[in-house]
Amino acid sequence: MTQTATRGKTVLVTGGAGFIGSHLCERMLAEGHRVICLDNFQTGRRRTIAKLVDTPNFTLIEADIIRLPAISGPVDRIYNMACAASPPLYQADPVHTLMTNIVGVNNLLMLAAEKGARFLQASTSEVYGDPLVHPQSEDYWGNVNCTGPRACYDEGKRSAETLCFEYLRARRVDTRVARLFNTYGAHMRPDDGRIVSNLICQALMNEPLTIYGSGQQTRSFCYVSDLVDGLVALMEYQVNPETPINLGNPGEFTIIELADMVREMVPGTPELTFMPLPVDDPQRRRPDIRRAKELLGWSPRIQLRAGLEKTMEWFRAELPAVASQTTARISSSRP
Ligand SMILES: NC(=O)c1ccc[n+]([C@@H]2O[C@H](COP(=O)([O-])OP(=O)(O)OC[C@H]3O[C@@H](n4cnc5c(N)ncnc54)[C@H](O)[C@@H]3O)[C@@H](O)[C@H]2O)c1
Repeated sequence: MTQTATRGKTVLVTGGAGFIGSHLCERMLAEGHRVICLDNFQTGRRRTIAKLVDTPNFTLIEADIIRLPAISGPVDRIYNMACAASPPLYQADPVHTLMTNIVGVNNLLMLAAEKGARFLQASTSEVYGDPLVHPQSEDYWGNVNCTGPRACYDEGKRSAETLCFEYLRARRVDTRVARLFNTYGAHMRPDDGRIVSNLICQALMNEPLTIYGSGQQTRSFCYVSDLVDGLVALMEYQVNPETPINLGNPGEFTIIELADMVREMVPGTPELTFMPLPVDDPQRRRPDIRRAKELLGWSPRIQLRAGLEKTMEWFRAELPAVASQTTARISSSRP
């Protein structure tokens, strides 16, 4: 059963203009909380939160967590979603990505200590790297290349987890760490280079679907509303679990299977085209979610086909508005 915060709290959502953060802002407002959305708009978009900006309980602060401004008044909860999540975007400024996860997370933890706020860090399955254990449980320490082009994100997120657990051990902040696996749904940028948005947008624009490598690599895809349920359940769990918690959908699909599903939904989609696999791209991904089930009573409910249909419906409305400036970039972006 999903638990919710007591009504009327002040919730800071950093990265609140991004894909997942914007859903979280909407969820917190719907539950009657005051929301402070802080974002530097590096990958987030103003159009994603446009309808929230005039809502009475919503405050937008444009800032970078690396140079966190003072925040006046009480803060009860901090959800840290701030970090570019798509490889081409987090690799565009790798030092900024790393510092977001070290300096930025430390700044937020100091703010949480000052305010007495509970803190949830959006970590990632990338802390497992290219895993040698399958499926991945929280006890697996991972297989990460610390000098490769993905390291700014993977090692950044690992450092952020370390910071969270040091603040927790020192009893300075009640920190919780969620390890998110691939998540998809409305509010994704059409041009951000993630596999689900790439394939859907290419199909809707009648372009061949780009597959990186053989397409036999696997991923598990969680619909965004399920993920948000899991984040809130972890944040509101009465006792600190003192362990990271995997949040993801354990259904495992090859990229070819995903592409075939998309092609079935958009009849007439051209054939697949194949491109080289990016460096250090993980071969297999599937969360072991027993801990989330046992502790939080959480498990995802939306099957991949149903989630893809909802996502496709959203992109059908979204694409005409942004197609002209994104067509070229979608075609050349990476998974
Ligand atoms: N979407 C996924 O599949 C997935 C999987 C694993 C982990 N995550 C994590 O979840 C979080 C949200 O991911 P998302 O998919 O919504 O990504 P996103 O890129 O859509 O959102 C990230 C948001 O953070 C903002 N941001 C980035 N750096 C910032 C900084 N230094 N200061 C302030 N704002 C900053 C961006 O402008 C954007 O609005 C990220 O931390 C990501 O690592 C996401």
